[in-house]
Amino acid sequence: MPTRSVYVCQHCGAESPKWAGQCPGCSAWNTLVETVIARGPGARAAGRRQRSETPSAMAVEQISSVSSAEARRLAIGIGEVDRVLGGGLVPGSIILIGGDPGIGKSTLLLQVAARLASAGEPVLYITGEESAAQVRGRAERVDAVVDGLGLLATTELEVALANIEEMAPALAVVDSVQTLGSAELSGPAGSVGQVREVAARLAEVAKRGRTCIALVGHVTKEGTVAGPRTLEHLVDAVIYVEGERMGATRLLRSAKNRFGSTDEVGVLEMRGDGLVEVSDASRFFIESEQPPSAGSAVTIALEGTRPLAVEIQALVAPAGYGSPRRATTGIDVNRVLMLVAVLARHAGITLTGHDVYVNVAGGLRIEEPAADLAIAVALASSLRERPVVAGSVVAGELSLSGRVRAAPRAERRLSEAQRLGFQRLVTGAARGASEAGEVGPPIAAPSAMVVVSTLREALQATLSTPESTA
Ligand code: TYD
Ligand code: MG
Repeated sequence: MPTRSVYVCQHCGAESPKWAGQCPGCSAWNTLVETVIARGPGARAAGRRQRSETPSAMAVEQISSVSSAEARRLAIGIGEVDRVLGGGLVPGSIILIGGDPGIGKSTLLLQVAARLASAGEPVLYITGEESAAQVRGRAERVDAVVDGLGLLATTELEVALANIEEMAPALAVVDSVQTLGSAELSGPAGSVGQVREVAARLAEVAKRGRTCIALVGHVTKEGTVAGPRTLEHLVDAVIYVEGERMGATRLLRSAKNRFGSTDEVGVLEMRGDGLVEVSDASRFFIESEQPPSAGSAVTIALEGTRPLAVEIQALVAPAGYGSPRRATTGIDVNRVLMLVAVLARHAGITLTGHDVYVNVAGGLRIEEPAADLAIAVALASSLRERPVVAGSVVAGELSLSGRVRAAPRAERRLSEAQRLGFQRLVTGAARGASEAGEVGPPIAAPSAMVVVSTLREALQATLSTPESTA
């Protein structure tokens, strides 16, 4: 059999015909790895399509008579998962479930597999990472020992493909894409060449039939081992499982979805018997009793388009010897350092001699700048020992000059706050853009929205005994 060898960059996936110290694609050093293809050039593509030498025309369908994939969605029955998928699995599609090792990808997919199998849909779970016995052990914990759920332990791509084609299940889980390898490629399983081949060949099988294929992919920190990022364009949807490993909260977030919105998030909780839906996700991230105690502020965060009420907890305590500590969970420590500086400069609240701890309740991680105001309010509340006025939530971005900017989609946040029983939202003024694209006049806000323009005003409006800060 003729062989051909290419050099594949383990970082960006670029191929080059000869070895080089630096990748021509992404300029990374020492990332090219020889990958031998045990077939003649071109034979691979042609063989895959199983076409004759000269391709002949195929029947063209009218768009009006093509049936939509939407119509045939397979709902899983776990609301938070279906929500992120856009209503359920689409037959003939391939999706990638990414996330850190140990975050719960296998658990999630085993539960999904069991749900579908109990609903009478045949499911095949292919495990390359764990033995069949290990998967059975997990299945006992999460109540997934059900009829109709097939288990196949293999690391050979060809074996996996043959079984999927023969069984034609509604769902085939491949756990994980990094542990399968094709005998036709020389690179080790998990190298970029192998991972791409595995995904591409599985995608073909999915497209040809009605099977939905779910690939598990570990996210790797360095680009040297192929991670899901190499695969994003090969699959129809990419869902990431996120969370603080020590915490129990898991967020499902879609980074790409050909069949739905990428704005949805799903909230699940890892328990002893697997992942469980969180019934009222928004209430889930508020830990303290209401009315709150000093050091706690509630904000409405937007995760995608989903509003979630989230409690920010701050503790400010006199520092011992040495430089004071600043520690955070669920929020970038640099963001907090900036807010500490803004508080000192623009609100007369100096934390130089204090240790500062900030925590996002419920194990959530917040990235959006609209959480700034809640963090600043929580810090001031802790230092001054004044709780936030009962029934108030805050949302807004703080600029270095101490001005408060409106949180995007403030109305949406306010209505969620009101649904949860809060009466008012303290935020910055929203400004409409004028025709020239300049910043226009402030837009009138509903009465439950307390509009402030500076951090000082925000503290006056939120802390229980308004004080005049010098
Ligand atoms: P797992 O699904 O194996 O993670 P991944 O496939 O993403 O690597 O989940 C591993 C973690 O989840 C492990 O630390 C134990 C925990 N876990 C539970 O807390 N409850 C459970 O019911 C199960 C099955 C796992
Ligand atoms: Mg796993």
